[in-house]
Amino acid sequence: MRVTRAKNVHPASARSLRAAAARLRRGELVAFPTETVYGLGANALDEKAVAKIFAAKGRPPDNPIIVHVSDQKMLRKVARRVPARAKKLIARFWPGPLTLILSKKSLVPSLVTAGLDTVAVRMPQGLARDLVRLAAVPIAAPSANVSGRPSPTTAAHVAEDFPDVFVLDGGPTAHGLESTVVALEPHPVVLRQGAVTEEALRTLIPELRGGGGARPAARAAAPGSPAVSPGTKYTHYAPSRPLILFLRKSSLLSYFRRHPGALIFCPSRLSPLFPKQRILPLGDSPEEIARNLFAALRTRRRGTELLALAIPRRGIGRAVMDRLTRAATRIVP
Ligand code: TXA
Ligand code: MG
Repeated sequence: MRVTRAKNVHPASARSLRAAAARLRRGELVAFPTETVYGLGANALDEKAVAKIFAAKGRPPDNPIIVHVSDQKMLRKVARRVPARAKKLIARFWPGPLTLILSKKSLVPSLVTAGLDTVAVRMPQGLARDLVRLAAVPIAAPSANVSGRPSPTTAAHVAEDFPDVFVLDGGPTAHGLESTVVALEPHPVVLRQGAVTEEALRTLIPELRGGGGARPAARAAAPGSPAVSPGTKYTHYAPSRPLILFLRKSSLLSYFRRHPGALIFCPSRLSPLFPKQRILPLGDSPEEIARNLFAALRTRRRGTELLALAIPRRGIGRAVMDRLTRAATRIVP
């Protein structure tokens, strides 16, 4: 069977990368794969270009965007100061799926940072880094989904949401969920759980505060609760059907007995408990589940509703549970 590609999807090659970089330099949008999810990029120093991201995504203007850099020199262009703790994290985790909140330089348009005096920065791996290097300007890029939809982990997901945008196709992304967002001042804190685990960060910064536990609304309401990234207060990752998150296997089993038309996301090892046509296996390790989750949230398979089972909040499991909790219409103990 011939693989049909959407008209604006371009397999990654030296040529398509150059074409993408040229577009970015002209102030146009380009979608590209990172090691986490696909990003919708624009020249971070060009306010008009960045405005196109907000318009295309329908992104609320108070939700700031991550700036992607290819090297330390580019980092110094956008960040006023790099505190000692940030230097430690950079040495270990960059290039990689870790975003740091740093004080911003005035060169960065306030549209990028939603008026904040901080800027979120990360140095991505592989193709994304090559693209930023070729474009030779820092690239502002949120996940390449329409606001509220699941983040894209393949070029086809991007084309679904943005049929008119130039997409570089680098295949499915390695981690499948977004970077971890960390603020260092006044206290080091995780603002968004992601592909770098809290455990790994604590080997360098033992005093780091965790984050991403409760539902965003509940967290925002609790006095003295940890700071949140502005974006985390919005509805996220919403699939097109109700998604129910079960905290226990027994409650999932008993619900399914009463709703046999539902589609179940669950660890592969539990697949034998359900009819084959009602199962969407996510894999078994937390890493596999992380990689497959967003594609599952976009599934077109039949099912009256989607049922998911909680996994332990450890390692990457924290980020998986954070995304599932945000996507869920209901949580059943
Ligand atoms: O893996 C990723 O981080 C992907 C790829 C494309 O790099 N990008 C991504 O961007 O997930 P986005 O826009 O979907 O999420 C960015 C998060 C939001 O929660 C936003 O509020 C937060 O980072 N953020 C951005 N700038 C910030 C700032 N100055 N202070 C606090 N949070 C910030
Ligand atoms: Mg996003």
